[in-house]
Amino acid sequence: MTDEKKVMLTLPEGKTVELPLRKGTEGPQAIDITSLYQQTGMFTFDPGFVSTASCDSGITYIDGQEGILRYRGYPIEELAGNASYLEVVHLLLYGELPSVEELQSFRGHITHHTMINEALRRFFEGFHYDAHPMAMMVGVTGSLAAFYHDSLDIKDARHRDISAHRMIAKMPTIAAACYKHNMGEPVMYPRNDLSYTGNFLYMMFATPCEEYEPNPIAEKALDLLFVLHADHEQNASTSTVRLASSSGANPFACVAAGIASLWGPAHGGANEAVLDMLEEIGSVDNIEKYIAKAKDKDDPFRLMGFGHRVYKNYDPRAKIIREVCHQVLEELADTNNPLFELAMRLEEIALQDEYFAERKLYPNVDFYSGIIYQALGIPRTMFTVMFAIARTAGWVAHWTEMISDPQLRIGRPRQIYTGPTKRAFVPIEQR
Ligand code: SDX
Repeated sequence: MTDEKKVMLTLPEGKTVELPLRKGTEGPQAIDITSLYQQTGMFTFDPGFVSTASCDSGITYIDGQEGILRYRGYPIEELAGNASYLEVVHLLLYGELPSVEELQSFRGHITHHTMINEALRRFFEGFHYDAHPMAMMVGVTGSLAAFYHDSLDIKDARHRDISAHRMIAKMPTIAAACYKHNMGEPVMYPRNDLSYTGNFLYMMFATPCEEYEPNPIAEKALDLLFVLHADHEQNASTSTVRLASSSGANPFACVAAGIASLWGPAHGGANEAVLDMLEEIGSVDNIEKYIAKAKDKDDPFRLMGFGHRVYKNYDPRAKIIREVCHQVLEELADTNNPLFELAMRLEEIALQDEYFAERKLYPNVDFYSGIIYQALGIPRTMFTVMFAIARTAGWVAHWTEMISDPQLRIGRPRQIYTGPTKRAFVPIEQR
C-alpha cells in the first residue's frame, strides 16, 4: 500500500528524484523504485535480494530481529501442536482457519486427488534404483504438467483451486513412490481412511505382505514438522516458483522449479547436510575443530543448520523442533541418540563463540529436523523431500496469490553489465 510520505533521492549531477514510500500492515517500510529507471536511467543493485521486497503478500510475516513467524497473523507457536497440517494448508491457501465442516470438505477434496496417473507411476521404472529422491521429485512433479496441461486455465479461479488441491494431494504419493523405488519395494496406493500424514507414513512403510497402521507418535510429530515447514515468506524456492509462474507457465512445472531450488544445501538441502556434518564430526571432542573450520574463511566448511538470511535471532521453528526432538526420542526409546546429544553440545558451544554471536548465527529450522526424521525411520536422502511435501502448501499459496493479482507482471530483473564493450568481428582466419 502506498504511503503519502516520500523520499528524495539526490543524483550525482544534483538532480533530485521523489520516490513514494510503501507500507504494509507490519514490517519495514519500502521505497517504491518502480519509476526509478524511467526517472533516472539508473538501476538499483541488490544481488541476493538482501534489501529488496519483490511483492506485496498477505500470507506469512517474519520478523528476523524478534524471531517472529506468523501464518496469516497466527503465531507459529500457537499453530504448532494445535492445528493439523491440513488446517494450516487451508489457512495459507484461503486466509482463514477452517471450521469443522470446511475442514471435512477440504480434506475430502485433497483425499480424492492423492492417486497419481498409472502412466506417471511407471516413470519410476526409468530411474536408477539409487537415484536421489529429490532428483526424482523434480522430474516426476514437473511431469504432472504433461497430464494436466490442457485442463488448466490459470485465469480461472476454479482451475487454480483444482491445481492447488492436486499438488498438495499428490506430493506425498510421489514422495513415497521415490522412497519405494530406492527400496525396490512395490508402491503402496493411498488409503482414504487415513489422515494426510498418516497416509504418507502408510505409503512409505507399508508393504503388501502385512497390515500396517501408522505409529500415532510418528504421525503427530511428522504432522507438526509439516506445519513448521509449510511456508516462510519469499525464501529462495518460493521466489523461484513466483518468478517461473509470472510468465504464466504451468504451475506443476513451476513447483518442480521450486523443488529444484529447495534441494540446495544452503536452503532445504541443509537438513540432510546437518546429519552428514554431525556424522563427520563424530564426537563431542571434535566440535572445537569443526567450529574453527566453520570460522576459517579459507575453509568452505560451514556449520550446516546454522544461520539465516532473515533470522538474526533464534529461528522460532528451531526452538519448537528441539522440544519435539526430545519428546520423540524419549517416546521412541531412542533417548541416548548420540547424534542428538552431539547436536545439543554443538549448539551450546557454537552459541558461546563470539564469531557466531557477532554474526547472529543461530540454529535454524534444519538443525534438529533431520534427527527426528531419522528417529522416524526416514532415510537421510528423503529429508529434503519431507521439506518439499510441507512447503508445497506455501508454494501453492504464493502461486495462487500472485496469479490472482490483477497487477501481475512477468518478473524480469536487469543487470550491471561487466563484459567487453563493442568490438568488431574478426574472421577465423585472422584470429
Ligand atoms: C532454510 O530463506 C528462508 O526462509 C529459508 C528457510 C525456509 O524456511 O525457507 O528458512 C529454510 O533454507 C534455512 C537455512 C538452511 N541453510 C543452512 O543451514 C546452511 C548453512 N547456512 C548458511 O549457508 C547461511 O547462513 C545462509 C545461506 C542460511 C544465509 O546466508 P546469507 O544470508 O547469505 O549469510 P552470509 O553468507 O552473508 O553470512 C553472513 C556471515 C558470513 O561471514 P562474514 O563474510 O560476514 O565474515 O556469516 C557467515 C558467513 O561466512 N556464516 C556462516 C554460516 N552462515 C553464515 N559461517 C559459518 N557457518 C554458517 N552456517
